[in-house]
Amino acid sequence: MDWGMENRMAQLIQSDGRCLFLPIDHGYFQGPVHRLEEPRKTLDPLLPYADAIMLTRGILRSSVDPGKAKPVILRVSGGTSVVGRDLANEGIITSVKEAVRLNAAAISLSIFVGSEYEHQSLLNLSQLVDEAQDYGIPVMAVTAVGKELAKRDTRYLALCCRIAAELGACVVKTYHCEGFEEVVRGCPVPVVMAGGPKVDTELGVFEFVYDGIQKGAIGVNLGRNIWQNDYPVAMIKAIRAIIHENASAKEAQELYDSVKSGESRS
Ligand code: R5P
Repeated sequence: MDWGMENRMAQLIQSDGRCLFLPIDHGYFQGPVHRLEEPRKTLDPLLPYADAIMLTRGILRSSVDPGKAKPVILRVSGGTSVVGRDLANEGIITSVKEAVRLNAAAISLSIFVGSEYEHQSLLNLSQLVDEAQDYGIPVMAVTAVGKELAKRDTRYLALCCRIAAELGACVVKTYHCEGFEEVVRGCPVPVVMAGGPKVDTELGVFEFVYDGIQKGAIGVNLGRNIWQNDYPVAMIKAIRAIIHENASAKEAQELYDSVKSGESRS
Protein backbone atom coordinates (compact mmCIF):
# COMPACT_ATOMS: atom_id res chain seq x y z
CA MET A 1 0.00 0.00 0.00
CA ASP A 2 1.32 3.45 -0.86
CA TRP A 3 2.17 5.85 1.99
CA GLY A 4 -0.74 8.21 1.41
CA MET A 5 -3.30 5.41 1.33
CA GLU A 6 -1.79 3.79 4.41
CA ASN A 7 -1.71 7.10 6.28
CA ARG A 8 -5.37 7.79 5.47
CA MET A 9 -6.41 4.29 6.54
CA ALA A 10 -4.50 4.80 9.80
CA GLN A 11 -6.40 8.02 10.43
CA LEU A 12 -9.64 6.08 10.13
CA ILE A 13 -8.85 2.75 11.75
CA GLN A 14 -7.23 3.26 15.13
CA SER A 15 -4.15 1.43 16.46
CA ASP A 16 -6.39 -1.19 18.12
CA GLY A 17 -7.80 -2.05 14.69
CA ARG A 18 -11.20 -0.56 15.54
CA CYS A 19 -13.14 2.56 14.60
CA LEU A 20 -16.12 4.70 15.48
CA PHE A 21 -17.30 6.70 12.48
CA LEU A 22 -20.05 9.23 13.04
CA PRO A 23 -22.23 9.87 9.95
CA ILE A 24 -24.21 13.09 9.60
CA ASP A 25 -24.76 12.81 5.84
CA HIS A 26 -28.48 11.95 6.05
CA GLY A 27 -29.63 15.32 4.70
CA TYR A 28 -28.21 14.57 1.25
CA PHE A 29 -31.46 12.80 0.38
CA GLN A 30 -33.66 13.20 3.49
CA GLY A 31 -33.34 16.94 4.16
CA PRO A 32 -33.28 18.26 7.74
CA VAL A 33 -33.95 15.00 9.58
CA HIS A 34 -34.96 14.95 13.25
CA ARG A 35 -32.12 16.16 15.49
CA LEU A 36 -29.90 16.94 12.50
CA GLU A 37 -31.76 20.12 11.60
CA GLU A 38 -28.69 22.16 12.60
CA PRO A 39 -25.70 19.91 11.90
CA ARG A 40 -23.18 22.00 13.81
CA LYS A 41 -25.25 21.78 17.01
CA THR A 42 -25.61 18.03 16.62
CA LEU A 43 -21.97 17.45 15.84
CA ASP A 44 -20.08 19.73 18.23
CA PRO A 45 -20.65 17.81 21.50
CA LEU A 46 -20.05 14.44 19.79
CA LEU A 47 -16.92 15.30 17.83
CA PRO A 48 -14.42 14.53 20.62
CA TYR A 49 -15.64 10.91 20.73
CA ALA A 50 -15.68 10.16 16.98
CA ASP A 51 -12.69 8.70 15.16
CA ALA A 52 -13.98 10.16 11.87
CA ILE A 53 -17.05 11.94 10.57
CA MET A 54 -18.98 11.09 7.42
CA LEU A 55 -20.72 13.95 5.63
CA THR A 56 -21.18 15.87 2.38
CA ARG A 57 -19.00 18.74 1.26
CA GLY A 58 -21.83 21.21 1.88
CA ILE A 59 -22.18 20.35 5.55
CA LEU A 60 -18.41 20.08 5.96
CA ARG A 61 -17.85 23.62 4.66
CA SER A 62 -20.85 25.17 6.40
CA SER A 63 -20.87 23.39 9.73
CA VAL A 64 -17.44 22.06 10.68
CA ASP A 65 -14.56 24.19 11.93
CA PRO A 66 -11.45 23.21 9.89
CA GLY A 67 -9.28 23.76 12.97
CA LYS A 68 -11.20 21.25 15.07
CA ALA A 69 -12.31 18.62 12.58
CA LYS A 70 -11.75 14.89 12.80
CA PRO A 71 -10.73 12.82 9.73
CA VAL A 72 -13.40 13.25 7.06
CA ILE A 73 -15.18 10.53 5.11
CA LEU A 74 -16.70 12.50 2.28
CA ARG A 75 -20.00 11.27 0.84
CA VAL A 76 -19.70 11.59 -2.94
CA SER A 77 -22.80 9.81 -4.24
CA GLY A 78 -26.30 11.27 -4.36
CA GLY A 79 -28.59 13.22 -6.62
CA THR A 80 -31.87 11.70 -5.34
CA SER A 81 -34.38 12.59 -2.63
CA VAL A 82 -36.98 10.87 -0.45
CA VAL A 83 -39.74 12.49 -2.48
CA GLY A 84 -38.21 11.55 -5.83
CA ARG A 85 -38.83 8.47 -7.90
CA ASP A 86 -36.07 6.07 -6.88
CA LEU A 87 -33.40 6.50 -4.21
CA ALA A 88 -31.16 4.03 -6.02
CA ASN A 89 -30.68 6.30 -9.02
CA GLU A 90 -27.54 7.93 -7.60
CA GLY A 91 -24.69 9.52 -9.48
CA ILE A 92 -21.35 10.92 -8.34
CA ILE A 93 -21.97 14.37 -6.85
CA THR A 94 -18.45 15.35 -5.77
CA SER A 95 -15.17 14.88 -7.64
CA VAL A 96 -12.05 13.22 -6.29
CA LYS A 97 -10.25 16.54 -6.92
CA GLU A 98 -12.70 18.20 -4.51
CA ALA A 99 -12.08 15.42 -1.97
CA VAL A 100 -8.34 16.14 -2.19
CA ARG A 101 -9.02 19.88 -1.81
CA LEU A 102 -11.05 19.13 1.33
CA ASN A 103 -8.30 16.87 2.68
CA ALA A 104 -10.68 13.92 2.95
CA ALA A 105 -9.32 10.80 4.62
CA ALA A 106 -11.73 8.69 2.55
CA ILE A 107 -14.62 8.98 0.16
CA SER A 108 -17.85 7.08 0.37
CA LEU A 109 -20.67 6.13 -1.94
CA SER A 110 -23.73 3.90 -1.93
CA ILE A 111 -24.30 0.79 -3.98
CA PHE A 112 -27.82 -0.52 -4.59
CA VAL A 113 -27.47 -4.23 -5.33
CA GLY A 114 -30.65 -5.79 -6.72
CA SER A 115 -32.21 -2.46 -7.61
CA GLU A 116 -33.02 -1.15 -11.06
CA TYR A 117 -29.86 0.94 -10.74
CA GLU A 118 -27.56 -1.85 -9.59
CA HIS A 119 -25.34 -1.63 -12.68
CA GLN A 120 -25.04 2.16 -12.50
CA SER A 121 -24.16 2.21 -8.81
CA LEU A 122 -21.59 -0.58 -9.20
CA LEU A 123 -19.94 1.26 -12.08
CA ASN A 124 -19.92 4.38 -9.91
CA LEU A 125 -17.98 2.37 -7.32
CA SER A 126 -15.49 0.90 -9.80
CA GLN A 127 -14.78 4.21 -11.50
CA LEU A 128 -14.40 5.99 -8.19
CA VAL A 129 -11.95 3.35 -6.96
CA ASP A 130 -9.87 3.80 -10.15
CA GLU A 131 -9.76 7.54 -9.70
CA ALA A 132 -9.29 7.61 -5.93
CA GLN A 133 -6.46 5.09 -6.18
CA ASP A 134 -4.45 7.64 -8.19
CA TYR A 135 -4.53 9.96 -5.17
CA GLY A 136 -4.19 7.36 -2.42
CA ILE A 137 -7.72 7.88 -1.14
CA PRO A 138 -9.60 4.88 0.27
CA VAL A 139 -13.20 4.29 -0.80
CA MET A 140 -15.84 3.14 1.69
CA ALA A 141 -18.81 1.48 -0.03
CA VAL A 142 -22.22 1.73 1.62
CA THR A 143 -24.56 -1.21 1.00
CA ALA A 144 -27.73 0.84 0.68
CA VAL A 145 -31.28 -0.50 0.68
CA GLY A 146 -33.21 2.73 0.11
CA LYS A 147 -36.64 2.40 1.65
CA GLU A 148 -36.59 -1.42 1.54
CA LEU A 149 -35.32 -2.01 5.07
CA ALA A 150 -36.59 -5.61 5.07
CA LYS A 151 -33.86 -6.51 2.56
CA ARG A 152 -31.30 -6.53 5.37
CA ASP A 153 -30.78 -10.30 5.71
CA THR A 154 -27.55 -12.31 5.80
CA ARG A 155 -27.65 -13.59 2.24
CA TYR A 156 -28.34 -10.21 0.69
CA LEU A 157 -25.83 -8.29 2.83
CA ALA A 158 -23.12 -10.93 2.26
CA LEU A 159 -23.70 -10.57 -1.48
CA CYS A 160 -23.48 -6.76 -1.36
CA CYS A 161 -20.38 -6.67 0.83
CA ARG A 162 -18.52 -9.19 -1.26
CA ILE A 163 -19.32 -7.36 -4.49
CA ALA A 164 -18.17 -4.06 -2.96
CA ALA A 165 -14.87 -5.64 -1.91
CA GLU A 166 -14.39 -7.31 -5.30
CA LEU A 167 -14.83 -3.95 -7.04
CA GLY A 168 -12.13 -2.37 -4.89
CA ALA A 169 -13.73 -0.82 -1.79
CA CYS A 170 -11.22 -0.55 1.09
CA VAL A 171 -13.96 -0.60 3.76
CA VAL A 172 -17.59 -1.69 3.51
CA LYS A 173 -20.41 -0.27 5.57
CA THR A 174 -23.38 -2.57 6.02
CA TYR A 175 -26.11 -3.48 8.50
CA HIS A 176 -25.91 -5.89 11.40
CA CYS A 177 -28.13 -8.96 10.89
CA GLU A 178 -28.74 -12.48 12.17
CA GLY A 179 -25.75 -14.56 11.10
CA PHE A 180 -23.59 -11.47 10.71
CA GLU A 181 -20.44 -13.61 10.93
CA GLU A 182 -21.29 -14.94 7.45
CA VAL A 183 -21.32 -11.40 6.08
CA VAL A 184 -17.90 -10.67 7.58
CA ARG A 185 -16.46 -14.04 6.54
CA GLY A 186 -17.28 -13.45 2.90
CA CYS A 187 -15.88 -9.93 2.83
CA PRO A 188 -12.08 -9.70 2.59
CA VAL A 189 -11.92 -6.02 3.58
CA PRO A 190 -12.94 -4.42 6.92
CA VAL A 191 -16.66 -4.17 7.66
CA VAL A 192 -18.33 -1.43 9.72
CA MET A 193 -21.96 -1.43 10.87
CA ALA A 194 -24.59 1.23 10.25
CA GLY A 195 -27.51 1.50 12.61
CA GLY A 196 -30.49 2.31 10.44
CA PRO A 197 -33.59 3.89 12.02
CA LYS A 198 -33.53 4.41 15.78
CA VAL A 199 -33.78 1.16 17.76
CA ASP A 200 -36.38 1.05 20.62
CA THR A 201 -33.95 0.81 23.53
CA GLU A 202 -30.36 1.79 24.16
CA LEU A 203 -29.60 -1.77 25.24
CA GLY A 204 -30.82 -2.97 21.83
CA VAL A 205 -28.17 -0.80 20.19
CA PHE A 206 -25.42 -1.88 22.59
CA GLU A 207 -26.31 -5.54 22.01
CA PHE A 208 -26.11 -5.39 18.23
CA VAL A 209 -22.90 -3.35 18.28
CA TYR A 210 -21.32 -5.80 20.75
CA ASP A 211 -22.50 -8.82 18.75
CA GLY A 212 -21.23 -7.35 15.48
CA ILE A 213 -17.81 -6.63 16.96
CA GLN A 214 -17.58 -10.18 18.36
CA LYS A 215 -18.42 -11.45 14.88
CA GLY A 216 -15.68 -9.51 13.16
CA ALA A 217 -16.86 -5.97 12.39
CA ILE A 218 -14.10 -3.45 13.09
CA GLY A 219 -16.52 -0.80 14.30
CA VAL A 220 -19.49 1.30 13.40
CA ASN A 221 -20.66 4.09 11.16
CA LEU A 222 -23.60 4.85 13.39
CA GLY A 223 -25.72 7.97 13.15
CA ARG A 224 -29.36 8.15 14.22
CA ASN A 225 -28.99 5.74 17.12
CA ILE A 226 -26.48 8.19 18.57
CA TRP A 227 -27.68 11.68 17.72
CA GLN A 228 -31.42 11.00 17.85
CA ASN A 229 -31.03 9.68 21.38
CA ASP A 230 -32.09 12.05 24.17
CA TYR A 231 -28.59 11.74 25.61
CA PRO A 232 -26.27 11.57 22.60
CA VAL A 233 -23.00 12.09 24.48
CA ALA A 234 -23.84 9.25 26.87
CA MET A 235 -24.70 7.12 23.84
CA ILE A 236 -21.50 7.76 21.90
CA LYS A 237 -19.35 7.22 25.01
CA ALA A 238 -21.06 3.89 25.69
CA ILE A 239 -20.63 2.73 22.09
CA ARG A 240 -17.03 3.86 22.16
CA ALA A 241 -16.47 1.70 25.23
CA ILE A 242 -17.74 -1.39 23.37
CA ILE A 243 -15.53 -0.66 20.37
CA HIS A 244 -12.31 0.52 21.97
CA GLU A 245 -12.46 -0.89 25.51
CA ASN A 246 -14.16 -4.23 24.85
CA ALA A 247 -17.07 -3.32 27.13
CA SER A 248 -20.06 -5.69 27.13
CA ALA A 249 -23.56 -4.46 26.26
CA LYS A 250 -24.40 -4.45 29.98
CA GLU A 251 -21.29 -2.42 30.84
CA ALA A 252 -22.14 0.00 28.04
CA GLN A 253 -25.63 0.41 29.49
CA GLU A 254 -24.15 1.16 32.91
CA LEU A 255 -21.83 3.76 31.39
CA TYR A 256 -24.74 5.28 29.44
CA ASP A 257 -26.81 5.53 32.64
CA SER A 258 -24.01 7.17 34.60
CA VAL A 259 -23.07 9.71 31.87
CA LYS A 260 -26.74 10.44 31.20
CA SER A 261 -27.29 11.53 34.79
CA GLY A 262 -24.86 14.43 34.21
CA GLU A 263 -26.02 15.33 30.67
CA SER A 264 -28.97 17.61 29.99
CA ARG A 265 -31.70 16.13 27.77
CA SER A 266 -31.57 17.05 24.03
C1 R5P B 1 -27.62 7.32 5.04
O1 R5P B 1 -28.38 8.24 5.26
C2 R5P B 1 -26.22 7.38 5.33
O2 R5P B 1 -25.37 6.72 4.44
C3 R5P B 1 -25.83 7.07 6.75
O3 R5P B 1 -24.50 7.44 6.86
C4 R5P B 1 -25.97 5.64 7.19
O4 R5P B 1 -27.24 5.14 6.94
C5 R5P B 1 -25.57 5.44 8.64
O5 R5P B 1 -26.37 6.14 9.50
P1 R5P B 1 -27.48 5.44 10.42
O6 R5P B 1 -26.73 4.74 11.52
O7 R5P B 1 -28.30 6.58 10.91
O8 R5P B 1 -28.24 4.47 9.57
